[in-house]
Order: sequence, then C-alpha cells, then structure tokens
Amino acid sequence: MSPLVPLRGSEAPRNTVILGDCVKVMATLPPGSVDLIVTDPPYAVRYRSRNGERLLNDDRVDWLEPAYCSMARVLHDDALCLSFYGWHQPDAFTQAWKAAGLQVVGHLVFPKRYVSSTRYVANSHEQAVLLAKGRPPLPRVPARDICRWHYTGNRRHPTEKSPQILAPYIEAFSPEGGLVLDPFCGSGSTLRAAHDLGRDYLGIEMDPRHRETAYRRMLA
Ligand SMILES: C[S@@+](CC[C@H](N)C(=O)[O-])C[C@H]1O[C@@H](n2cnc3c(N)ncnc32)[C@H](O)[C@@H]1O
Repeated sequence: MSPLVPLRGSEAPRNTVILGDCVKVMATLPPGSVDLIVTDPPYAVRYRSRNGERLLNDDRVDWLEPAYCSMARVLHDDALCLSFYGWHQPDAFTQAWKAAGLQVVGHLVFPKRYVSSTRYVANSHEQAVLLAKGRPPLPRVPARDICRWHYTGNRRHPTEKSPQILAPYIEAFSPEGGLVLDPFCGSGSTLRAAHDLGRDYLGIEMDPRHRETAYRRMLA
C-alpha cells in the first residue's frame, strides 16, 4: 500500500508520548501501523554535554539491531525511515539496518556554521540515512539531501534537533493525517514538526525527564 494513504484502521496510539524502552513499546504496536519514522537515536559515542549530561544507551550498541528490526516491523510496507546515526559506529549501524531488511536509499548531510568537536578534523556536520522498507513511491518533489543546520541552543535536551530541519522530509515522505513515529523522541522535536504539518505523531522516550519535556512541549 502507498504511504500516501494514511492507515486509519491501524491500532497504534496517536498523538501521545510513551515512557519506556522503545523496543518493548514497539512490540505492542501492530505491524505496519506507522506511515513514516523520523528518529535520532543515541550515536553510541559516550556523548557528554558541556554541563556533563549523558544519554541513555549511548555507551552500547547491542540495542541497535532490535531497535531497527522493531522499526521495520511497525513501518508499513513501501514506507521510509529517516534516521540520524553516528558515523563513529558505521559497522554497527549498517549491520542493524541490514538485519532489519531496511535499504539505504539516501544520505543526508546537515552542515553547521560552527565546529562541535575537533580531533583529526573539525566536526561541523550531522548526518542521517533514509531507509526504505520495500519500494516506497518517489515523492513528487524530492527534498534536497543537504539541509542547513539550525542550532536550537540545546535548551530542552542535550542533543536537541530543530523541527525546522525535519519538516521538509516529513512533508515529502508522509501523507497529511498519517502517523509519524519517533522511537527515540528526546524532547519531541520530530513530534512538534509532524503535528505542525498536520500529521499525527507517536513518541517513545526512555528517560522520564525527556519524556516529560516532550509531553509538555506537545501540550503547548
Ligand atoms: C539523540 S537523543 C534524541 C534527541 C531528540 N532528537 C530531540 O530533538 O530532543 C536520543 C534519545 O533516545 C533516548 N533513548 C535511548 N535509548 C532508548 C530506548 N531504548 N528507548 C527509548 N528512548 C531511548 C535517550 O534518552 C535520548 O533522549
């Protein structure tokens, strides 16, 4: 079925933010009940923000395969998943996408005006892949694979993404009224962008503080 037709008959909860481990929560969702996934999982880099905050599961990779397999199960046939990822762990991420049967059909780069860390090179971009389940139809107007970064100030979450950079992809890859899932939703940036574009949303977040932030953000 084309992702441009929302799955109104599905049983997945809509317009809510669930607290829990996304692998366990996604196991409760019906297969094929989600129109688009846009997500920003931990990069498995032991990230530490300026004020010392860390992310859950950012020190391990064993959750990657179960998480992407669960995403593939709940995504309906011929639909897309946009996922940020850590370039530091290419093998682990690639292995998880392959195990889930998801095919890389695009690579997105978000150039920053500032340097976020420096080692051999001065790191100044984020990256994401576009993963396909089956053969999604091509969008009428393809979104560019380079999108200028918009800095949020990380006030809501230590690795907060801006809804502004997510919106063009949500618009291109999901139908109005369709269900957009973010299983690692943090402060709810995907949910905000989806809602503002007339999509339904479902967020899952394991850290109670971030779940609360996302929940309150969606009340505003
Ligand atoms: C990179 S952050 C997402 C930030 C988000 N894009 C934003 O703009 O706020 C990843 C999030 O995944 C959460 N997380 C880690 N493991 C999880 C799991 N198994 N299930 C659900 N959430 C998880 C972390 O607590 C963290 O908030």
